[in-house]
Amino acid sequence: MPRVKISKKTKSVIERDHRFIVTTTRESYPFVAESGDGDFAYDIEGNKFIDFSSFISVYNFGVNANSKVREAIKSQVDKLMHSAFTDFYAELPVKFAEEFTSMFPKQYGKLFFSNSGTEANEAAIKFSKVITKRSSIMAFYNSFHGRTNGSLSLTSSKLVQREHMGPFVNTTHVPYPYCYRCPLHQSYPDCGFACIDYIKEYPLSKEVSGNEVAAFVAEPIQGEGGYVVPPKDYFKELKSLTDSYGMLFVSDEVQAGYFRAGKPVALDNFGVHADIYTFAKSVGAGLPMGITMLKRSLPEIPAGSHATTFGGNLAVLAGAYALTKHVKGNMESIEEQVHSKGHMIKSRLEKMKEHYDIIGDVRGLGMMLAIELVKDRKTKEPAIKERDSIMEECFYEGLLMLPAGTSTIRIIPPLTMSVRNIEAGLDILEDAIEKANSKMHGKK
Ligand SMILES: Cc1ncc(COP(=O)(O)O)c(C=O)c1O
Repeated sequence: MPRVKISKKTKSVIERDHRFIVTTTRESYPFVAESGDGDFAYDIEGNKFIDFSSFISVYNFGVNANSKVREAIKSQVDKLMHSAFTDFYAELPVKFAEEFTSMFPKQYGKLFFSNSGTEANEAAIKFSKVITKRSSIMAFYNSFHGRTNGSLSLTSSKLVQREHMGPFVNTTHVPYPYCYRCPLHQSYPDCGFACIDYIKEYPLSKEVSGNEVAAFVAEPIQGEGGYVVPPKDYFKELKSLTDSYGMLFVSDEVQAGYFRAGKPVALDNFGVHADIYTFAKSVGAGLPMGITMLKRSLPEIPAGSHATTFGGNLAVLAGAYALTKHVKGNMESIEEQVHSKGHMIKSRLEKMKEHYDIIGDVRGLGMMLAIELVKDRKTKEPAIKERDSIMEECFYEGLLMLPAGTSTIRIIPPLTMSVRNIEAGLDILEDAIEKANSKMHGKK
């Protein structure tokens, strides 16, 4: 692909953005989105990019979704967009719920619709409190669950996200099994899950009674925190602890769910089930949607205790329903493809690790993959500038990527991306890594 060229057109949008838009977070490279189609994204200059970002994990099934999803949204827009679903009934949300829940074991049944991941988690927090009549929550350090007050109380991946934002919901944070950088300086499996013993011996013995904790909220794979995957048996151990206190278990599947990690929910990879699952990002096929899914055996949530004006919006549901029908009809082949493409990408990344010592760790499940970059494999000093320069170089060579954690790069193409385009993307990535690796070692 020709090297990406940026003109005044891009610079003008960025300057006007800085004048009129509140800064959230922005990448260092100047991508100004214009359109997208399947494996590719295009900027306003007409530059073409292979998409390894899925636009922050939203386009699991192709950039700008597929034509059936778009058609469904367009025809619903002409009929009725918003139906005041909290107050009036409508059939489309019911049809969606029937189709969506049929992908999961029969014990999962009831859905609450909202507009984002943070709202899906807010609902999970509130429902857990109402159901258990307990007021505390447990969550992990290095987690990301969203930025509204309840979810932000759990989020603890970067200080800037929490500074001056309290007071928070009563939350106790515990260490995540980030084995590459174990917070307890142990190594797995010799540690015998010291991080779970720690929860018993410290927070639950000295800070909060387990009988007062409504829910443990967990990302089965930490996303924004750096694509951190716990050991296979970790959640079995954790769940037996949380069950022993009657805490509900909430699995935040906003980033890792909906087949990104190879299964309908990423927690399935660990052989346990949650009481509540939360989804967003990819379930809306490009439009804003959050879902909180409850186990049928949980008590009813009192009517009026929680609601939202736009949850269940018909234009959103039309796209989500079209996508879910497609996904439901092809579950086996989707799982198979995620497995084989994920394996192919991971093996290539492992090979890169053999050649370039800037790569400290390769990790992930399914097609939720990442590399963590270090200046030195022994000290594991994060290679932050090098990470940013790799992503920038990739951008100019026509590959869109996103960071995570301190010095990690996510590799999350749409699950539908062709093997050929994945390979082309990995070639660009490898060239950029080679350059950064040589530079780090003082070579030209
Ligand atoms: C695991 C997880 N939970 C929740 C959220 C928040 O989702 P949203 O930005 O839609 O509120 C995110 C966003 O990145 C996420 O990765």
